[in-house]
Amino acid sequence: MVHHTESPVFQPVTMGGLRLANRIVMAPMTRSRADDAGVLPAYAADYYSQRAGAGLIITEATNISAQARGYPRTPGIWSDAQIEAWKAVTDAVHREEGKIFLQLWHTGRISHPDMHGGDAPVAPSAVKPEGQIRVHDGMKDFVTPRALGIGEIPSIVNDYGTAAANAKTAGFDGVEVHAANNYLVEQFLRDSTNLRDDAYGGSLRHRLRFPLEVVQAVVEVWGADRVGVRISPVTTTPGETPLDSDPMATYGAYLDELSAMGILYVHDIEGVTQMNRQEAGGVHFHALRERFRGAYIANNQYTLALAESALARGDADLISMGRPFIANPDLVDRLRSGGPLAEAPKEYWYGGDSTGYSDWPRLR
Ligand SMILES: Cc1cc2nc3c(=O)[nH]c(=O)nc-3n(C[C@H](O)[C@H](O)[C@H](O)COP(=O)(O)O)c2cc1C
Repeated sequence: MVHHTESPVFQPVTMGGLRLANRIVMAPMTRSRADDAGVLPAYAADYYSQRAGAGLIITEATNISAQARGYPRTPGIWSDAQIEAWKAVTDAVHREEGKIFLQLWHTGRISHPDMHGGDAPVAPSAVKPEGQIRVHDGMKDFVTPRALGIGEIPSIVNDYGTAAANAKTAGFDGVEVHAANNYLVEQFLRDSTNLRDDAYGGSLRHRLRFPLEVVQAVVEVWGADRVGVRISPVTTTPGETPLDSDPMATYGAYLDELSAMGILYVHDIEGVTQMNRQEAGGVHFHALRERFRGAYIANNQYTLALAESALARGDADLISMGRPFIANPDLVDRLRSGGPLAEAPKEYWYGGDSTGYSDWPRLR
């Protein structure tokens, strides 16, 4: 059996004021097990606590409001019942000495009228995503979203603050703002989806306004040292969303501002999500990382070997892994001992029940 006990991957690390058992983070993964009211089942507490061996768990993306919803059976953090269900999760993770952050989500245009009583989803601008989205009864074509009126935007920022406060009530250790994967925050960032000409669009400074107001609202609740932000500068899915015309300038400026705010970490999806790990679209991830003085969590198709070399080169402070955690609740132990990794069939990724979710065995 191979022992990697010298590896920095398995050494405890301090990030801000948080003491983490190792440098492997569980990446956020939507698993679509909540009920129609956005309340997680009791077995979600088993699922998350089984994975508490990660240095830090980031939860599946969680809707900040009813308006934020894009997909069936995704959890929320606006009702008392949702908060209660999350409290059971955080209690279970803390009993296993894990740490857990909630990922805050508004899907914007990546949604469907079926999720909103027939009303169009909202977005910075009326730009229709390409392709189809999962709804309750199968796949449906995307529709053109309704461009938000400038007077509506402060209430969405406010919803982020309320959701952040609810996350505190639910016992989380911190929160991650989901500014990745072409959801609402990134729709404001990119000039391909933000065609506004008011204070929230047009110039780069204006495109950054909403993404920074959201982080500020969350920081006011948690303090900057318990807030992370996730970005995905070159990811084009879902909705076949075109890249920003100058991602280094746009994301670089965002990181400059987040750095000045002193937030805890940036969590960067390096490459096209789940598809490649290469630099693409003129983005150099190391150069981006240099723009931010907090911790840098790297993600996308990392293996233990890639994680070790990225840490050794100083290209990242922590590494997050997503898919490997689905079928390997004890992933960190398996990596440490060189144990075999199980693979989860895709049919278990989204929807269903505890099968393929909270019933994966530990190696020993
Ligand atoms: C089933 C599944 C659900 C996902 N849900 C989310 C999500 O809710 N929020 C998010 O930011 N990324 C989500 N992702 C992306 C992952 O966090 C991660 O970026 C991606 O899987 C690449 O990392 P990996 O190669 O280690 O799996 C999801 C990925 C998968 C496979």
